[in-house]
Amino acid sequence: MKSITVKKINSLKGEITVPGDKSISHRAIIFGAIAEGDTHVTGFLEGEDNLRTLQAFRQMGIQIDGPKNGRLIIYGKGLNGLKEPIDVIDAGNSGTTTRLLTGLLAGQKFFSVITGDEYLRKRPMKRVIVPLSKMGALIYGRDNNNLAPLSIIGRRLKAIDYISPIASAQVKSAILLTGLFADGTTSVTEPIKSRDHTERMLKAFGADINIKGLRIEIKGGSKLKPQEIDIPGDISSAAFFIVAGLITKGSEILIKNVGVNPTRTGIIDLLLKMGGDIKLLNKRESSGEPAADILVKSSKLKGIKITKKDIPRTIDEIPILCVASAFADGETKISGAEELRVKESDRIRTMADGLSRLGVDVEERADGMVIKGAKSQRVKESKKKIKVNSFGDHRVAMSMIIAGLAAHEETVVEDIKCIDTSFPGFLKLLKGLVF
Ligand code: S3P
Repeated sequence: MKSITVKKINSLKGEITVPGDKSISHRAIIFGAIAEGDTHVTGFLEGEDNLRTLQAFRQMGIQIDGPKNGRLIIYGKGLNGLKEPIDVIDAGNSGTTTRLLTGLLAGQKFFSVITGDEYLRKRPMKRVIVPLSKMGALIYGRDNNNLAPLSIIGRRLKAIDYISPIASAQVKSAILLTGLFADGTTSVTEPIKSRDHTERMLKAFGADINIKGLRIEIKGGSKLKPQEIDIPGDISSAAFFIVAGLITKGSEILIKNVGVNPTRTGIIDLLLKMGGDIKLLNKRESSGEPAADILVKSSKLKGIKITKKDIPRTIDEIPILCVASAFADGETKISGAEELRVKESDRIRTMADGLSRLGVDVEERADGMVIKGAKSQRVKESKKKIKVNSFGDHRVAMSMIIAGLAAHEETVVEDIKCIDTSFPGFLKLLKGLVF
């Protein structure tokens, strides 16, 4: 089990680029594979999760050149070009691969099975199986059709109007993908807007899609036109460096070419509210997605309230926001965040565990936590190293490493191999900034 010892540092200085956006990278392969012709991608994230999606499409007979330095060519075969995979599809740790592909596979003319690692096999799949079954899909799984492995008997499906009880881009995208293969117009309505990369990409590929506030409609059967896609850096990866820059003294980091889609920038808004010195420079569009350079400087942060309406726009950044809160003055209260309990780990539990081991005063709640920041925090006086665990969760591992940069004691973060699922090269990039 790979671990790392992190020591308190002085400052972080320099200019970096973070790898491509994970969500957009998954979607580039999916839509490229079912488009009529060759889709060229640059900035693809070569993380384990995305490589799982890529491998799944190779198993279904799609030729893909690369990835090489973030470049891919996907030789799309159209809506009816996928072949029955001759073996089980292994999604590894990737919830996005599992849920989006379940949506796609439900409407194919073949049988398929999808599974994943020990963490993924504990994550709820009913949230996609329920709406897809209403469309006529035949999907079976463990634990009363909730857990992977899932077996999917593809068939012709019918459109539905679905009101989703949760704000989840994976659920929304699974339904839209199924809708593309269904008879009629499918709609999905979310309670709060989740990331909209699927809608943006479907539009760019020429699908018949309509967005009316929280309701999205898609007409089945539209042919997709291949695209050139330049994927910006992942704001969820940039978030670790943004917070690292804020909580360490005398730091200044420029993060170039980061995706700043408004459905993803909750982290920036919340950190600004906490008093963070963050500037978005050189704003532009990159393949239908907003992008910018982000300049961050050390700041004195203060505690804030984070509530249900904030969660979808910052869902993957809550672990690193917990770290920012631990080094802020005053209390940060996170509520309405029960979705965190079904991520790669139970992130309320695992972040509360890690931070409390560092001496932070954390109170765990069913739907969030209360973190008492630096001033009121009990800092352990012991000279021994403090051990924390990632619980196999890449974002917990990276968050705890960043916390270690500003903590008083040496921190050993255990089980950090999982970082490769979303951010290969994270440690090297971080070490390059230490001043
Ligand atoms: C993702 C959606 C989010 C997010 C995940 C990626 C996506 O999950 O947490 O890392 O690419 O659609 P939910 O849709 O379950 O909230």
